[in-house]
Amino acid sequence: MNEDLGRGRGVYISTYGCQMNENDTERMLSLLEMVNFVPVESPDKASLIIINSCSVREKPVHKVWSEAGKYKEMKAKNPDLKIGVGGCVAQQEKQKLLKDIPVLDFVFGTDAIDQLPEIVMRAYQTGEKQVSARFENDRPYSVETMVRNPGVSTFVNIMKGCDNFCTFCVVPFTRGRERSRDMKELLKDIKTLTDRGVKEVTLLGQNVNSYKSTCGADFGQLLKALAEDTEIQRIRYTTSHPKDFNQELVDISAKYRSKICDYIHLPAQSGNSEVLKRMNRGYTREEYLDKVRMIREGIPGVTLTTDLIVGFPGETEAQYEDTYTLLEEVRYENIYAFRYSPRPFTKAARYEDQLSEDEKQRRLQKLLDRQREISFELAKPLDGQTLDVLFENTTDVEGQIQGRSTQNKLVFAYGDKSLIGQTVPVKVLKAFPSVCRGEILVSGERGDTSRFLQ
Ligand code: SAM
Ligand code: SF4
Ligand code: F3S
Repeated sequence: MNEDLGRGRGVYISTYGCQMNENDTERMLSLLEMVNFVPVESPDKASLIIINSCSVREKPVHKVWSEAGKYKEMKAKNPDLKIGVGGCVAQQEKQKLLKDIPVLDFVFGTDAIDQLPEIVMRAYQTGEKQVSARFENDRPYSVETMVRNPGVSTFVNIMKGCDNFCTFCVVPFTRGRERSRDMKELLKDIKTLTDRGVKEVTLLGQNVNSYKSTCGADFGQLLKALAEDTEIQRIRYTTSHPKDFNQELVDISAKYRSKICDYIHLPAQSGNSEVLKRMNRGYTREEYLDKVRMIREGIPGVTLTTDLIVGFPGETEAQYEDTYTLLEEVRYENIYAFRYSPRPFTKAARYEDQLSEDEKQRRLQKLLDRQREISFELAKPLDGQTLDVLFENTTDVEGQIQGRSTQNKLVFAYGDKSLIGQTVPVKVLKAFPSVCRGEILVSGERGDTSRFLQ
């Protein structure tokens, strides 16, 4: 590989979609830095622009077209500029993207990230358009975690792909078959990260609780090994599939509660059993609620969040109401709710009884309005309570630092930068949904709160 490839050249990557994509962007930048590209903070300073795309709904797909359109003029002025698309739209559209968007020089799929420096080199050397979007489904998933400046908290991919084929979801087509990383490799990676000062990891996968190491260890055993055999202080994970969330996982979470965070994202998608069946989710409303009860009994005080889709094809008003009442019954801390968006290759896109966008929007708004009230109701009792906060960063406000509680609440407080990387008790001054302002209590001393009062 020509190490001079990136010398004097800046690289800019814009990232859409989930944490998986954020993590992939980090990997792309690490690989490009090895051939001496320098990351820059705006596209006009770059010689290489990459759009790391998402196709989970129609809206982020449009972003690829609109963002690439903005670079047309830049490309006309700068012949050295190369533009590529990676991520899920690249995997979905492959060479078709090159035809649709003439300004592009290369397209690379979700399994081609490690080839990125080579693809870019060929694009520069030959001047020809490049496509690399084949799945490597038969190869074991073995990668080294690559993070440039890991900081206090970082993502670690433990698996890739998805075999669930929910009828609305494009991910099995854009990320390929499910593959897990070996547990030994993960333990080694996480030990390296803790040596570099990392205190918290978020384990990533489309369906983390179907994790299976080559040695046979499942997700619960992975959590146990991380808690017992590494110095990591906090472990988060996303996303859990309700059908695979079992008592063993609850027991392990309870046993290692000092390390495994009190936060579970448990996507329901719908509160109606008939819709869930048509979505191919593998559970009924009652079974989902049973899982919620099992989790709350085993881990009292745990925070739950969810994903919901409204306006799935054929969803009646009564079926939608079942999703609405799920909010009342579970009382999630927060929800991520979406209007159903038909996706290529998926079964539900071919269902005939599609709902109008206006109707989907009405259902979504009503759900979000009710959740907002619930989130405020749940936040209120937090005022005056003490949370253990792992501080991660400074903020734009002079003297302020931010961190998260084990329940994933974002906490802002005034305090010394030396507290970054430490877990400190913080008294909540004012709690809002998802965030709060707090006062640091170190060894019984009061932190500075006066500036919140200004
Ligand atoms: N693997 C996770 C699971 O099983 O819950 C979900 C991953 S998906 C990338 C994130 C969320 O996007 C889903 O939980 C779902 O709510 C939403 N989503 C996926 N496909 C969608 C579609 N066609 N229309 C609207 N929302 C969709
Ligand atoms: Fe998509 Fe379902 Fe797989 Fe989640 S489990 S990524 S929603 S197919
Ligand atoms: Fe989007 Fe692909 Fe993630 S479709 S949500 S970037 S897995």
